[in-house]
Amino acid sequence: EKGGYKHFMLKEIHEQPQVFEDTLAGRVNLLEGQVYFEELQEFPIDFERVVIVACGTACHAGMLGRIFLEKFARIPTEVDYASEFRYRDPLVDSKTLVLSISQSGETADTLAAVSLAREKGCRVVSVCNVLGSSLTRISDWVLYTRAGVEISVASTKAFLCQMAVLLLFAIYLGQHRGCLGKEETRRLLEELVTLPRLIRDILEREEDICKLAKKFYLFRNFLYLGRGVLFPLALEGALKLKEISYIHAEGLSAGEMKHGPIALVEPDLATFVLVGQDVVRSKIIGNMEEIKARQGKIIALCCFGDQEVAEQADEVIYIPRVTECLLPFLAIVPMQLFAYYVALEKGCDIDQPRNLAKSVTVE
Ligand code: F6R
Repeated sequence: EKGGYKHFMLKEIHEQPQVFEDTLAGRVNLLEGQVYFEELQEFPIDFERVVIVACGTACHAGMLGRIFLEKFARIPTEVDYASEFRYRDPLVDSKTLVLSISQSGETADTLAAVSLAREKGCRVVSVCNVLGSSLTRISDWVLYTRAGVEISVASTKAFLCQMAVLLLFAIYLGQHRGCLGKEETRRLLEELVTLPRLIRDILEREEDICKLAKKFYLFRNFLYLGRGVLFPLALEGALKLKEISYIHAEGLSAGEMKHGPIALVEPDLATFVLVGQDVVRSKIIGNMEEIKARQGKIIALCCFGDQEVAEQADEVIYIPRVTECLLPFLAIVPMQLFAYYVALEKGCDIDQPRNLAKSVTVE
């Protein structure tokens, strides 16, 4: 049942190129430079803002979804933990589109947030992986991730598919709201469809990550730093590590380092730094210099050929160079593998981490 893999988590990490392709199937038209969603019949585009609600990993996908929606559809978007949204008497109304994200479609807080939104007159679109789940029955529209059954408690392939659906949805809205041209869309989609192959390439270098994990599994504290599209990924990388290896890990926007967390840096602290290629790249290199000056250990994840970053780091993981907004789809894979191999090295129960359940159906 685990297809020759030692754990469901590893099997599911390896399924990612395939489920990514499945999630794009029929939704991307390269010739026309267009995104289609069969599910979005009679979908209005006249709402004023989007509020995303989700929990855990799904919320990290939501934070990236917000960046996509603001960038490609130019629509004001907020993200909230469902557990916060539902108790805050949130300011939402019939002009608000609530976008909920859930792998299982059974998370209690997410369901409650959506019910509340409906009471307040919002329209609700949900990104969900489980056909016919409770969430899909209380949503106006459902965009399915096609990740297949996810068994490992730590979500991997569902997260990747959530990011993909959110990007497609942002492009779809951008086109319908007239802020994204055919040519720009076509270029983006052409690159998007190459990602499964690039993810396969990263998976083939799995052994390097396994070796890296052997060097780092005894560290007791990790920081994960990123900015822009890589900030939500820093949060997700830290969550993966803590939930399956029980190592304390904190995800941060690198820009916040000097406002407090830098006080933590010492030789026993490991920092996983995610570096893209946009305007904030030089700022992150600055963070790395500061960490190095205090003898902190650095694992850098950056694009092939980024010598400047490699020089500042103790260890480097390279990923292929793609448009900045597509980097998360590649950056996530080494982080999942790293968490997996650290947990393996520590002898943890990877598919059933202590204190956790696959779907959180109670508050
Ligand atoms: C982490 C993880 C959890 C879930 C969260 C929401 O790996 O799996 O953080 O993402 O409990 O679950 P769903 O997406 O089913 O609503």
